[in-house]
Order: sequence, then C-alpha cells, then structure tokens
Amino acid sequence: MSSDDLTGRTAVVTGATGGMGRAIVAALAGAGAHVVATDLRDDGADDLLAAVADSSGSVVFVSGDVANAEHMADVVERAVSLHGSLDCAVNAAAIEFETVPLAECTVDDFDRMMSVNVRGTFLSMKAEIAAMLDAGTGSIVNIASTNSFRPQHDQPAYTASKHAVLGLTRSAAMDYAAHGIRVNAICPGAIDTPMLRSAMERRGRNADDVAGRLSRLGRFGQPSEIADAALWLCSDSSSFTTGHALSVDGGMLSS
Ligand SMILES: NC(=O)c1ccc[n+]([C@@H]2O[C@H](COP(=O)([O-])OP(=O)(O)OC[C@H]3O[C@@H](n4cnc5c(N)ncnc54)[C@H](O)[C@@H]3O)[C@@H](O)[C@H]2O)c1
Repeated sequence: MSSDDLTGRTAVVTGATGGMGRAIVAALAGAGAHVVATDLRDDGADDLLAAVADSSGSVVFVSGDVANAEHMADVVERAVSLHGSLDCAVNAAAIEFETVPLAECTVDDFDRMMSVNVRGTFLSMKAEIAAMLDAGTGSIVNIASTNSFRPQHDQPAYTASKHAVLGLTRSAAMDYAAHGIRVNAICPGAIDTPMLRSAMERRGRNADDVAGRLSRLGRFGQPSEIADAALWLCSDSSSFTTGHALSVDGGMLSS
C-alpha cells in the first residue's frame, strides 16, 4: 500500500465546488477516502459527484456557509456518523474581491472577508479538531496563499485574512501536536481557477502578463497541482510535517 493511500480514511473538504476544491475532492476520493464535501454554492455539486463517481472512495455533498458554526459542526458530525471518524480535512473556502488600498476598503468589505476567510477557517478547524481529538490522530490542511507572506497591490483585507490563516495553522500545530493532530498550510501562487480569472478581469489584466510576473515557470498552476500537495499533507507520507507553510507557487516566493 502506498503511503499516499487514504483507503478507509474520512475527509472533509470546504470550498468543494470551487476550482481547487473540486480537484482536492477528486484527489482524496481517488486515493480511497470517504469525503464529505461542502460549499456555499451547490450549483456545481452534481458535476463534482459525477466526476468522482468512478473513484475508489466516496463523496457526499452538503451545501452551507463555512462562517456558520452549526453548519461546520454538522458537516463534521456527518463525516463521523457516516464513517466512524474524521482523519483529514482540507479547508479551501474563501472569497477575494478587492481592488483598492486600505483607506478605501469599506468596513463592510473588511468584515465580509474576515468572516469567510478567517472565521470560516477557524470554525472549520474548531469542529475538525474536536472530532480528531477523540481519535488521537488527524491531519488538517488550510489553503492560505503566497499573500500570507507577500502582498499583492490593493488586497488589504484578503492579505490580512491569509496572514491570519497562517496564524491559525501554526497556533493549532503547536497546541495539538501532542494529541497526534498535524496542521499545515498550502500557499498557492497563481492557480487557474474562477477566483484568479475573476481577479484578472476586475483589474483588466492579461493572463500571459500575470503568469509571467507571478510564476518563474511562466504559467499558472493547475488545481490538480494543489490537490497533489493536499493529498501528501493529508496522508502518512507527510507524517513528520506539521506547522509548515508549503508554497506551491511556481517559484514566486523564491525571488
Ligand atoms: N486561485 C488562486 O490563484 C489562489 C491563490 C492563492 C490562494 N488561493 C486560495 O485557494 C482557495 C481556493 O480558491 P479557488 O482559487 O479554488 O477559488 P474559487 O472561487 O474557485 O473557490 C472558492 C470556493 O469557496 C466557496 N465559498 C466562498 N464563500 C463561502 C462560504 N461562506 N461558505 C462556504 N463556501 C464558500 C465558493 O463558493 C467557491 O466554490 C481559497 O482559499 C483561495 O483564497 C487561491
């Protein structure tokens, strides 16, 4: 058995109908995991379930808001009641819509960004850790960003939210290592998803220019390249890795 094999393991994935979320669900289910997938948007759920129908694992979809504590408790409870435990989780749900510097960022926009990206990650982790503590083992992967280290222009709240995701990751990694729970972050660079495409459109940017500026490899990353990293961090292959921020960014942060 490969140590990336998740046969019999149970996973939660948030942001599951988004660009990266879909690829992460497919990778985990393809490795044999039983996945409880959740997203605010359910319009892509049928496609997602069809795409993973032949995988060796299984997927159920539950729609709801990551910023709602009851919803995230229900998602985790569903994973445990269906499959007996929660072994891993990938928290990918987030929003990004900014085009202005800090003094022009409205309080409402700041609060909305924090509510989904920070409170949502916090509530997801809170429910996931509670379930993992019972088993004394688990792996949580938060999707942060290269913005967790290096801001892009005109993204004050998003940048702050992604710094906070790293803070939640490192804090929990420290507190729960002794309980057998590993907590890591993936910091994607420019990945070809609806979030990136809509950011470029809002800013009137050309895809080739953005790829050339944000990636040493001269191209956007693919969602599957983030999913491969998430699978590794969920699996026993990464058993000595915790509190880590793994850049999957085409070399962006190396310059
Ligand atoms: N695409 C990139 O270049 C890039 C770069 C760095 C980090 N990221 C991060 O990667 C993760 C995945 O983003 P993506 O690029 O796949 O974007 P995406 O917009 O395709 O997916 C995000 C998903 O989150 C869901 N979501 C939003 N608000 C929610 C809420 N309140 N409750 C539940 N679900 C909610 C959306 O419906 C969407 O399906 C995010 O955390 C994002 O910040 C993306």
